[in-house]
Amino acid sequence: MPNGTTSIVIMGATGDLTKRKLVPALFQLKCKNRLPEDVRIVGFARSEYSDEEFRDYMWNGIQEIGELAVHREQWDDFARQIFYVSGNLDDPEAYGRLERRLAELENGVSPTNRMFYLSVAPDLYEAAIGNLGSSNIAKGVDGWHRIVIEKPFGRDLTSAKVLNRVIHENFDERQVYRIDHYLGKETVQNLLVFRFANAIFEPLWNRNYIDNVQITVAEEVAVGDRGGYYDQSGVIRDMVQNHLLQLMTLVAMEPPSLADDESLRNKKVEVLQAIRRWSPAEAAHNSVRGQYEGYLDEKGVSRGSNTPTFAAMRLFIDNWRWRGVPFYLRTGKALTHKVSEIVIQFQEPPHMVFPLGPTQDVSPNLLSVCIQPDEGIHLGVESKVPDQAMQMRTVDLEFHYKSEFGDQAIPEAYERLLEDALQGDASLFIRADHIEEAWTIVDPLMEAWESSNAGPSHSYATGSWGPRASDALLADDSRIWQQVCGGHA
Ligand code: BG6
Repeated sequence: MPNGTTSIVIMGATGDLTKRKLVPALFQLKCKNRLPEDVRIVGFARSEYSDEEFRDYMWNGIQEIGELAVHREQWDDFARQIFYVSGNLDDPEAYGRLERRLAELENGVSPTNRMFYLSVAPDLYEAAIGNLGSSNIAKGVDGWHRIVIEKPFGRDLTSAKVLNRVIHENFDERQVYRIDHYLGKETVQNLLVFRFANAIFEPLWNRNYIDNVQITVAEEVAVGDRGGYYDQSGVIRDMVQNHLLQLMTLVAMEPPSLADDESLRNKKVEVLQAIRRWSPAEAAHNSVRGQYEGYLDEKGVSRGSNTPTFAAMRLFIDNWRWRGVPFYLRTGKALTHKVSEIVIQFQEPPHMVFPLGPTQDVSPNLLSVCIQPDEGIHLGVESKVPDQAMQMRTVDLEFHYKSEFGDQAIPEAYERLLEDALQGDASLFIRADHIEEAWTIVDPLMEAWESSNAGPSHSYATGSWGPRASDALLADDSRIWQQVCGGHA
């Protein structure tokens, strides 16, 4: 099939995401020659902009990303492919205008492909999807048409089901690309290669050798100017239901026999299905929530808000591979520094051959996957200290992306995701059933935290590792949070 022509319509194009992430990612793809030849980007939003004004606005975004701004000439060339249509996303007539403009720009080239990227406030999702579905704008093309949707996918299971229903009334699931930008991160994809392209880990990757798994996604930033949104969401909806559970499924999934999108996604959903469901009382017992000091003074946060900005929890996966192995998850804002890491803690050797000094402890082997910012992998192994009888110390077998592949090696997550969506590869996108399963895991927790007899919400100092109770959660199991990745690179 000839390449035809492709229109990428960004709905809600004047929002921050378009300027900071989407257009820069598309520009990078263009610089790398990875965009279809005949392609255009059409911004669609309420504000009035001319094409020229919109291009200038996008250029401002590029300039904020220093290394991209050097390609001014290529930008000028690329900017000629950017257009803008103004209209209310909940007004069906605006879609008529959008369609006419698209037809004019596509100039009768066949096949015509259209990708609609929804980057709008969640309360506009249903209207926008319904309008796309009921107009001819998507279905009327002779090539492919796809819809890309940003999170949040609902606020809980009930609303997620409604959203999925609206989507399916208008699109086939195979045309739907739900984004979790963590899946676009190079280091997250590498989890699959690391696990399934090396024979040495798989025999150990189970309850017989692994003591526990820890997933930390710590942010140094506070809620900043997103207080209004954040106060309505809180840490579970903002981070756990999506990013942390995604990481957990990739660590825990069974090897798929094929690397196609359905096989991969089936295996991930199986993990979610096997996660032990809590009652609200169990959820409260297995979790800790916190709010950083000063949160209540943030712009957009309601007085006396209980919204948690930190969560730590203990989850179990009830299957043959993982039965009895705790998965500890924690994430929060205003913490010590930005670091996302997965630590696999192996069991201690069954018998210590070498005499330990009075202050010496056996350290379990830790395998640490550093998602960001100092991307890499560390494996701590015990080694003999030279010239010191049988004294041991943990040494680090480490790999850093930057030293191995260069400073600029890691692309922005959105580059990969946009490229895959354009090519029709849904492996790194979330299926409807995954979304719903994930909500069934966190719904009882939110219910527990929102109920009147919820356990205490702990406050924690900005720049700390969160409330002390988070350490106590692990101390109850005689374990501690492990930190291996630098976090300051
Ligand atoms: C987003 C959340 O999904 O992820 C933000 O809405 C959070 O609150 C962000 O800051 C973190 O992403 P990253 O890529 O910086 O770890």
